[in-house]
Amino acid sequence: MKFFIDTANLDEIREAYDLGVLDGVTTNPSLMAKEGISGEANVRAHYKAICNIVDDKVSAEVIATDFEGMIREGKELAKIDDKIVVKIPMIKDGIKAIKYFHSEGIRTNCTLVFSAGQAILAAKAGASYLSPFIGRLDDISYDGLELIGQIVHIYQNYGFETEILAASVRHTMHLIKCAELGADVVTCPLKVITGLLKHPLTDSGLAQFLADHAKAAGK
Ligand code: E4P
Repeated sequence: MKFFIDTANLDEIREAYDLGVLDGVTTNPSLMAKEGISGEANVRAHYKAICNIVDDKVSAEVIATDFEGMIREGKELAKIDDKIVVKIPMIKDGIKAIKYFHSEGIRTNCTLVFSAGQAILAAKAGASYLSPFIGRLDDISYDGLELIGQIVHIYQNYGFETEILAASVRHTMHLIKCAELGADVVTCPLKVITGLLKHPLTDSGLAQFLADHAKAAGK
């Protein structure tokens, strides 16, 4: 299973990368805005800076919602670095754009996916990655994890090559359940990755080991 971090914050990306377990990065327009990144040149430079930190893929989302606009923007994004994956929304023109980019050998990540039907369409169009949003489904009282299981099953039935990139992951249990279900990639905030480190028995066990060692050493 690959770990992507869902942020445009360079410090957080470096911190996760320094831990030695980070593969790639996903961003979206809200995350870029949160870092105050706007304007074509700044956006390009920021994506390049992200690509320089990590080894694996970096998803960069188009703003256009029409076919021609997405193609124009996606081609520019893809030129920034070989690691760039063009993130395309799950809309009619988005599916056409994914099909086009697939034929051009440009990788895509189909985003804002909330149903198995959308997942089938994206795979048929040739998306490299599919981003089902778990947390946002949970927010409206649907089971986001159930959707991940459903998509894993469907993709296995037909040998679809699209990788399932579980997104909108809000806590460690989401991540662990995605691993059980067989998602290819999970993208999440830094706190979810570092949250995996934590267990109270680890903390109390370590404290006891150190105390026993100090006692034996006569400290
Ligand atoms: C995925 O690519 C999205 O950027 C992201 O996971 C959305 O997460 P959120 O629902 O916590 O905003």
